[in-house]
Amino acid sequence: MSKQYKNLVNGEWKLSDNDIKIYAPATGEELGSVPAMSQEDVDYVYETARAAQPAWRALSYVERAAYLHKAADILVRDAEKIGAVLSKEVAKGYKAAVSEVIRTAEIVRYAAEEGVRMEGEVLEGGSFDAASKKKIAIVRREPLGLVLAISPFNYPVNLAGSKIAPALISGNVVALKPPTQGSISGLLLAEVFAEAGLPAGVFSTITGRGSVIGDYIVEHEAVNFINFTGSTPVGERIGKMAGMRPIMLELGGKDSAIVLKDADLEKAAKNIVDGAFGYSGQRCTAVKRVLVQEEVADELVEIIREKVLKLTIGNPEDNADITPLIDTGAADFVEGLINDAVEKGAEVKTEIKREGNLICPVLFDKVTTDMKLAWEEPFGPVLPVIRVKSVEEAIEISNQSEYGLQASVFTNDFPLAFSIAEQLEVGTVHINNKTQRGTDNFPFLGAKKSGAGVQGVKYSIEAMTSVKSVVFDIK
Ligand code: NAP
Ligand code: G3H
Repeated sequence: MSKQYKNLVNGEWKLSDNDIKIYAPATGEELGSVPAMSQEDVDYVYETARAAQPAWRALSYVERAAYLHKAADILVRDAEKIGAVLSKEVAKGYKAAVSEVIRTAEIVRYAAEEGVRMEGEVLEGGSFDAASKKKIAIVRREPLGLVLAISPFNYPVNLAGSKIAPALISGNVVALKPPTQGSISGLLLAEVFAEAGLPAGVFSTITGRGSVIGDYIVEHEAVNFINFTGSTPVGERIGKMAGMRPIMLELGGKDSAIVLKDADLEKAAKNIVDGAFGYSGQRCTAVKRVLVQEEVADELVEIIREKVLKLTIGNPEDNADITPLIDTGAADFVEGLINDAVEKGAEVKTEIKREGNLICPVLFDKVTTDMKLAWEEPFGPVLPVIRVKSVEEAIEISNQSEYGLQASVFTNDFPLAFSIAEQLEVGTVHINNKTQRGTDNFPFLGAKKSGAGVQGVKYSIEAMTSVKSVVFDIK
């Protein structure tokens, strides 16, 4: 019988009446089962979490940081063990899975260090009228209370840790709802925090399908802040249900790589291929379209094609570049985008091949704006190249996207690169590099339908705390 994983609730490991079996996407192997929590189970998680918050909040930053440092040590110690499960559960290359765990340890440690540097400020009046000169404000940051962290399948440990650590260091308590495909990895992360000795109730987990318990866990009045990473439709739904409560939404993207005619094409192609096809394109920050000036398009497409042909295809344990997608629905969706591009006349530069949920990497040239691939997020290994006549056209097409996560600009003309960066409606622009989150102390955010709020350790702490000021008059 495969292992029955349990939720961490009020410092204990708990089953529920029902459970969900988890299978490896690449092999079909049964990896174990996780509880499908009921509404009553969720009520108990929230009740005990709220009860734990005053004592947790009362600790000093240094005391809370000590727990996080311990958790970071355990993550490093167990990186291979957790990475092996994560790799199977979400079909991510083994080395990348271990790196995800190590990167999580680094974020946890950085959050601990950032927390101990948290400071308030004192403001003096007098800027508006003479009478206000007597006024002094002491401005401090306070935790919000209970943070609900909801993470996506593609980084089930890292995009949980990057929410949990800044929330905890600030004095919040956390309930983590991991993705169902990725929930075993989320529960292994919970084991790490439990071993680090966190007091009961400070960190809990909620497993169950989002489609079943999602609305309940979000709408619940016990929750003070919702920190969500996932798809735009689910994010929009959560945004509506959050009401007056603050939220962080990190959602989908359609990141453009804009290649100008003076660019180093070899460097651009390398970054584009790494950026587009890493983890089979299942990254919010993946390069999801190339906008290239037509003078250099033939040459760029040929260099990209040569690199795509060298990508390895196989299973996660072999560290293949391209592995099966997370589920059949995802593979069907990508196939639909490929078929639409073919039907509308895009030039396919590599073989189109699918075996089960494994989609071989596809490069399309001469994609036009009437094709779905120009606008939709595949979350799979397919890259469209759109040829443009001018820099202005590249900016216009990039900005026509409903998304606004990131973009890249490849050029050796730095003043022009900065001017383009200013005009792009995205959270971050990378110059001569692929789109990517991080480093993890940098702000990470999306404009338009790519999100609301800013991540990045310091920014996450700010988001999950509120300002409280105490004002008094001096003589
Ligand atoms: P998803 O389907 O939106 O799921 C994300 C999380 O939300 C999962 O834990 C899911 O649980 C849960 N969920 C589903 N329905 C819910 C509901 N009604 N209420 C509350 N929670 C609910 O996204 P995904 O397929 O895991 O991830 C891929 C998407 O995430 C892509 O669009 C990608 O661009 C985006 N993403 C964005 C970022 C970023 O930082 N901008 C980072 C990573 C991924 P279940 O698994 O149980 O359904
Ligand atoms: O999938 C979304 C992640 O935030 C992307 O992170 O750029 O480090 O792969 P990454």
